[in-house]
Amino acid sequence: MLPITGYVDRWSVRPGEEINFMIGVRGGGRYRARIARVICGDPNPQGPGYREIPVSWALEGEHDGKEQRVAKGSWIDIPLLDLGTGERPIAFAATIWPTLIAADRQAVLNWRGGGVALTFGIGAKGVFCRLATPEGLVDVDIGVPLTERAWHDIACLFDPATGTLQLAQAPRKARLDRDERAEKSVSAESARLSGAGAAAVAAERSGDGAHLHFNGKIERPRIVAGVGGIGAVLATQRIGAATSSGTIIAEWDLSIGIPTDMAADIGPAKAHGRCVNLPTRAMTGSRWTGACHRWTEEPAQWGAIHFHNDDIGDAGWTPSLSFIVPKDWASGVYALHLEKDGARDNIVFYVRAAIAGSQAKVAFLAPTFTYTVYSQYQKKGRETLITERSRAWGALAQAPDGHPEYGVSPYNFHSDGSGVVMSTMRRPLIDKRVNQIHLVDPSPYGSGLYWIAADSYITDLLTRKGIDFEVITDHDVHAEGAELLSNYAVVLTGQHPEYHTTETLDALGAYLENGGRFIYLGGNGFYWKVVPHASGPWAFELRRAEGGIRLWATQPGESYHAFDGSYGGLWRRLGRPPQMLAGVGFSTQGEYKGFPYTFLDGILDPRVAFMREGMEGNAKPGSILGERGLMGGGAAGHELDRADTSLGTPAHAIIVGRAVLEDPTYQPVNEERYDHTWPAAREDIIRSDLTFFETPNGGAVFSVGSMNFIGALPIDNYGSVAARLITNIVKRFASSAPFAAPRIADI
Ligand SMILES: [Fe+2]
Repeated sequence: MLPITGYVDRWSVRPGEEINFMIGVRGGGRYRARIARVICGDPNPQGPGYREIPVSWALEGEHDGKEQRVAKGSWIDIPLLDLGTGERPIAFAATIWPTLIAADRQAVLNWRGGGVALTFGIGAKGVFCRLATPEGLVDVDIGVPLTERAWHDIACLFDPATGTLQLAQAPRKARLDRDERAEKSVSAESARLSGAGAAAVAAERSGDGAHLHFNGKIERPRIVAGVGGIGAVLATQRIGAATSSGTIIAEWDLSIGIPTDMAADIGPAKAHGRCVNLPTRAMTGSRWTGACHRWTEEPAQWGAIHFHNDDIGDAGWTPSLSFIVPKDWASGVYALHLEKDGARDNIVFYVRAAIAGSQAKVAFLAPTFTYTVYSQYQKKGRETLITERSRAWGALAQAPDGHPEYGVSPYNFHSDGSGVVMSTMRRPLIDKRVNQIHLVDPSPYGSGLYWIAADSYITDLLTRKGIDFEVITDHDVHAEGAELLSNYAVVLTGQHPEYHTTETLDALGAYLENGGRFIYLGGNGFYWKVVPHASGPWAFELRRAEGGIRLWATQPGESYHAFDGSYGGLWRRLGRPPQMLAGVGFSTQGEYKGFPYTFLDGILDPRVAFMREGMEGNAKPGSILGERGLMGGGAAGHELDRADTSLGTPAHAIIVGRAVLEDPTYQPVNEERYDHTWPAAREDIIRSDLTFFETPNGGAVFSVGSMNFIGALPIDNYGSVAARLITNIVKRFASSAPFAAPRIADI
């Protein structure tokens, strides 16, 4: 646990609106808080340096802190469940697909009430049950291990008449090398299961929370009274029909309400549960045939939920610092700085203009969706790697691999080896800070930045060039659409706007149709689809279906989002290649190293004459730009995009510059590979294109198509050719003079 950290309830806020910071202080105690407007987030002393402007804030100073923790692990909370009079036998049953059979026990179903607690689950010795009553404890394992990633029906039955507790397990498909079927009966005299209590699926209740989290899928957990023996319970669990001899106390049909957090009880008590910590729904169940892949067509085949002991949703910390943003705070990048006994952290947020477009006609669009999805990207060894340099530079030295207590990202695997589908901003995002590096840059003077700290090069450039700007976020565009964007003459992206919803892509598309101007300053943008949680984009679901550069892939039958039933994956595979929007799209990835671009003949086209203003001697065919940079040592690097008319680049686009990389780490994206050979020659794919084109109604687009491009901006005190080129483009794009696309006869 970090000595001090926290998170904010919204990425952006307008003057007059409330913002809340949730702060966790290890061991509690006093801490200091202040707010600054960030000018440059790069701590590298050989770069522009970390710079900020303190702002006057009513809450600046010392505050009492308290410890707040993240309770990981998903489960279903059923706060009220009455088991009845307790005279008849009661059975607990479920169908499970365990994914991590370890030494520790994992709970499948748990009930507690009236001083009695029953936990039914699995462990290294197969099914177990622990029944604790005021009279004593019965704790039994069936003694036969189960198989990971295979379906099993499991049950336990307590019979008050005979004072026995029975356990049973049976695989859906028998193993040939050993028999997993087993039953066991033990004495549980004087125990009684009755009355009001609370239940849990996939965990055992403990205090206010839960523990003994289950890893794997659970289908049709249920509690039945008056059944005719444990064999009958297993049989009805297997065939999926309602039991003929018993009475349902509760049966949670997890194929109902898949887009929601609700777990529907189809029994008479309607003891509905609530999914905690975003377990993954719309996962194939024991009855999935493989004939149908979209869960909305046959929800009953997707009646399983996959739980993980490291799932995280809303950490639920109590607000520590809440305030209304003052009217005189200008739109920009802000950081709440926290300090306790020499330990520091900062939490970035964005202040918008009270009325969009009232402060400036240039907008920086902060890629807050991508920041959220990438948060807590645990890369082994990263914290150790950056610590020495971070300390020397006065930067934060924290990295997610050193703090797994804040969870994982969709760039990681869960502890059971399955890919992480969910991401959340309601927890500390300890690698989305300013004054933070993310790697030791391979170039001798480089900064090694990513994300928020890197994107401050863009706002720093605008500030230094005297170009007024406002900041908006993906979250704002998702909520307010093209109408928000229409307030701006030009919108600039960040370094890596990779993740988008249908809403943000629709808004950007409509903005461009209506004459908006767009400058895409990154690489690998507009790549994956994400779907927000039903209650808003504080959490996202991501299904890495089919192709794409990805660390894991969806399993068969699990490529449609639970949150809205839509197909997941690359926007390219959903009919919206990035080239259709920005003119360029992902083509190659390699190590974080940068290389120069070379201007092409296109730079002399009169349509882009504005780009050369004041640097006609530098911007000419054959001249280079971006040969130095603070990210990898050059402008073309890490993830590169190319123009391609077959994927939607407009025919009239002009490529003003190009970088073809010879570095052997750069490989074609896998969505374009069909066999062991490259899909095209190096110069056709291992490249980045500086691409310009006019859009309808007087608009225009300029795209750099490189993750490391913006690292070339600060070179020579923002006097580099790259910086001057972008400055010229922003100024022209911000002017009211319309762009006119050429007619064929003119080209
Ligand atoms: Fe990425």
